[in-house]
Amino acid sequence: MAERYAPAIAEPTFDPIGKSAKHDSAALHVSGEAVYVDDVPMPKGGLETYCLLSPKPHAKIVSIDLEDVLNSPGVHAAICWKDIPGRNDVGPIFPNEPILANGVVEYIGQPVVAIAADNVKRARAAAKKAKIVYEDLPAVLTIDDAMAQKAYVAPPNKMERGDVAAALANAPHRLKGEFANGAQDHFYLEGHIALAHPLEDGQMRVLSSSQHPSEVQKMVAGCLNLSANQVTVEMRRMGGGFGGKETQPAIFACIASLLARRTGHAVKYRVDRDDDFMISGKRHDFRVRYEVGFDDDGNLLALDIEYAARAGHVADLSTSIVDRALFHTTNTYFIPAVRATGYPCKTHTQSNTAFRGFGGPQGILAAEHIVDRVARHRGLDPLTVRRRNFYGPAPRVQTHFGQTVEDFVADKIVADLAKDVDYDKRRKEIDAFNAANPILKKGMALCAVQFGISFTAIQFNQAGALVHVYNDGSISLNHGGTEMGQGLHVKIAQIVAHEFGVALERVRITATDTGKVPNTSATAASAGSDLNGQAARRAAAEIKQRLAQFVAGLHGVSETDVAFANGEVRAAGKTMKFEEVVWRAYNARVSLSATGFYATPKIHWDRAKAWGRPFFYFAYGAAYCEATIDTLTGEYKIDRAEILHDTGRSLNPAVDLGQVEGGFIQGMGWVTSEEIWFDKTGRLRTHAPSTYKIPIARDMPTQFRARLWAPAENVEETVHKSKAVGEPPLTLAAAPFLALQDACAAAVPGRYPLLVAPATPERVLNAIDKARAGA
Ligand code: MTE
Ligand code: MOS
Repeated sequence: MAERYAPAIAEPTFDPIGKSAKHDSAALHVSGEAVYVDDVPMPKGGLETYCLLSPKPHAKIVSIDLEDVLNSPGVHAAICWKDIPGRNDVGPIFPNEPILANGVVEYIGQPVVAIAADNVKRARAAAKKAKIVYEDLPAVLTIDDAMAQKAYVAPPNKMERGDVAAALANAPHRLKGEFANGAQDHFYLEGHIALAHPLEDGQMRVLSSSQHPSEVQKMVAGCLNLSANQVTVEMRRMGGGFGGKETQPAIFACIASLLARRTGHAVKYRVDRDDDFMISGKRHDFRVRYEVGFDDDGNLLALDIEYAARAGHVADLSTSIVDRALFHTTNTYFIPAVRATGYPCKTHTQSNTAFRGFGGPQGILAAEHIVDRVARHRGLDPLTVRRRNFYGPAPRVQTHFGQTVEDFVADKIVADLAKDVDYDKRRKEIDAFNAANPILKKGMALCAVQFGISFTAIQFNQAGALVHVYNDGSISLNHGGTEMGQGLHVKIAQIVAHEFGVALERVRITATDTGKVPNTSATAASAGSDLNGQAARRAAAEIKQRLAQFVAGLHGVSETDVAFANGEVRAAGKTMKFEEVVWRAYNARVSLSATGFYATPKIHWDRAKAWGRPFFYFAYGAAYCEATIDTLTGEYKIDRAEILHDTGRSLNPAVDLGQVEGGFIQGMGWVTSEEIWFDKTGRLRTHAPSTYKIPIARDMPTQFRARLWAPAENVEETVHKSKAVGEPPLTLAAAPFLALQDACAAAVPGRYPLLVAPATPERVLNAIDKARAGA
């Protein structure tokens, strides 16, 4: 029998777990060769899309006349909701979330008419010729208005433990307050995009920039009146998702598919940046009201807190996002009596959606603001008050939703970081600087994060994988997770290579495809590597076991005497190359393909009772920041950021560190410069880089150092004892925010110049001016 082995690898990486293997697409990213949906060559006759968006925040559509649009040069189709053969609905949890406005428009920017033409310029020109008559309806545009009218997209939710009223009444001190955080646009470099190919017999194949191909498959099938097995969705990589592509790609994929069905041509819908801003949802802005009770030493005794979130015109994921704010409302702190209420407010604006942290950052920022205020009220150092209120030891171990915190390490991380940065010394130096400088003021803050890992909708905590070993010894890996730059694929390839004892380079990662692994969950909740890693490991382990059995048979030894390492298989004192074993096994008719499946153990959650164990474990981290503000202009600089983050036993320290740094800076943008602003008519006025400011190189902290905390572990049996890393570091943004708050406080001694997020220079200036005026 002829031997057909895969070509030898020049520099094999053996035993890759815990090694800083480079991102599998690093070279392709840098050279520009990495293929995104827009890089896929258009099939012959392919068309492009433009959508006419609603100019009204809330109005009835009295009539739509598309005749002139259809007669416009190059136009192949123009459709509105009446032309949808199946369901006009992409609601992930609740129904009635239209693809195209369903007789009423509910925000400025909502797609009303979709046009396919030879090219997007012609589609855009044709759109101007549509004749649509609207009849205005009253619009709810702010959280305050929605709360006043009790306008919600879903019923409010509550988590409660202890007798809050009594605990507040008995507390030696009480503070009431209002806080707020702004929204945030995802600003993925690659905007929303889909390319739909109509296939034989009514079937559809869609390339979609999506964190959730299975959801896109379901929604496309729904709108075309097809079953799931008639639609295939493929996703090689996204140019960033950040949660914005968890549910919302479905709208764009459905529009492209509807037009493809209508015209019989392939149709691409590539949304330009302004339209992406106008159509798609963002991080939820929140209004927070609270009352906190505490003692002389700043020990927290009771918290009654109300979160009102701008959900937008439909529910999307807002209920789960508000839930996550409630889960994280005590962050790293044990508070005996807690009542947290959440309102998903219905407003006639974009449907806000998942964004890195998924409500967690909003809850944590509010918690850190409250502790900061309590500390200042008592004249204590905020870090001292933080440490006093940490979880543990027993009985200070139970959260307000019934979960026992079994893996608390925030105290240790904070101790290490405070020592590293010489916190007490810096406090004195900064106080001395402030005493000597009337105009420039410095501030500092050190805070920690505790982020729950698992989807709180328990059914999503499952994953599948498909591994093939070809008979030349090369390995093909497919799993339900999607790559958005976070380095999920390389981590899972590391896991599979480790399982087979082969070089990482032997494993080829393939595009996520609903035809290969079905019924997948979104790559979200930071659980991508936890879930898919385990599934892929099990698939590989199954094939490995078959190979071991085969080799054991050859040598007359037991299966457990066969070892896989360094690209070789050893048994009975003999060594064979992995590829040789594979080739022989193939010829002996051993199956070399397997699926793997994983479901997270131990978790349960009763949403009605708001009690259970929703999280498999917690991820922890801490950040220390310093800032300088100019009290004449409000301008500032983040001078220093030091991060210590717990990723368990990191699968890939370089990739994890990239997530820590990127997440932190993205969070810093959210609490500092990124401001989503609507005018009085409900029109989003910040819809391009000209008006919306994400952090750039100049905004990086002058001194910036992130490290992975050692000796990190995971008390739970996660894949190789690693921890999720994607979202938790974003919440460390509380540190730069509170450093700015500290600097503001230094500007107006004895008062509390209240900062809300984002702390833009205008807000910093206003906070100081107001406090000086005695407000
Ligand atoms: N990192 C990059 N580079 N790009 C992204 O879009 N998304 C974040 C995070 N890190 C994102 C990212 C979000 S919102 C989540 S939930 C996780 O990655 C998802 O991937 P994971 O589960 O593999 O960590
Ligand atoms: Mo991330 S917000 O869970 O997609």
